[in-house]
Amino acid sequence: MIALIKLGGSIVTFKDKPLAFNAPAVEGISRMLKTIDDIQMIVVHGGGSFGHYYSVIYDMHSKPAEYSKEGVSKVRCSMVDLNNRIINIMFEQGLRPYPIHASSFIGEGKVAIGNRVEELYNISKDGLIPVTYGDVMHYQGNLYYILSGDEIMSILAEHLRGRVSIALFTLAVDGIYKDMQSRELIRELRYASDASMDDVSMDVTGGMRRKVREGFKIASLGIDVWFVNGTYPERVADVLRGNHTIGTMIRGNRVGSEMIA
Ligand code: IPE
Repeated sequence: MIALIKLGGSIVTFKDKPLAFNAPAVEGISRMLKTIDDIQMIVVHGGGSFGHYYSVIYDMHSKPAEYSKEGVSKVRCSMVDLNNRIINIMFEQGLRPYPIHASSFIGEGKVAIGNRVEELYNISKDGLIPVTYGDVMHYQGNLYYILSGDEIMSILAEHLRGRVSIALFTLAVDGIYKDMQSRELIRELRYASDASMDDVSMDVTGGMRRKVREGFKIASLGIDVWFVNGTYPERVADVLRGNHTIGTMIRGNRVGSEMIA
């Protein structure tokens, strides 16, 4: 069984400050992952104030289009930079990250390239941790699109269904709130419409709405999905050890695709 872990852009970067890497947060989570490294896992990270920052500047979206070449290059390069910083910290903390670009296992139409995903699964059995990330992707001809890390999570979950123990999304908030004013945390999310979809700036791929949508997609495969605050690595550990914690859970199997936001 494998755990799919998303390190949200709001955790690995300071989202409101361009190109600001959050090293302490990545260190905290890596240190904690090291304590439970008998668990097989794949890590997916977001773009935060790296990739999202440039995708906003160059008006790039999840829809395939002919975007500025400078923009495509900037997004891609900034994601390589962010990924590099993350894997260096993971390695320093004793983990064995294995960085891999999404284009090597996701093909046209956002479908998993089966044997490549199997390869990732096999690599993760050896104690290496495949680390991938949302990025700008080539579509056809001169068309490109932004693929979010959240979508990568559900593409992997779909292909590895039956073998995924948990899908965990780390955020900079405690989970999904009923509404942003009261910040009342939803412990178990049953309907997408119960969630507040208020969002932060610098996000072209749909922010919280997308996370909830991908969460429901994954849950409909029979996989429990958790949203936890990555600032508290012990909550991440709790979920990976199969315990309850402060956060929002979408129970696997209980929801149908008609409930997707
Ligand atoms: C980043 O992926 C995609 C870009 C390069 C713009 P995500 O959309 O998953 O990033 P976060 O986690 O929301 O920042």
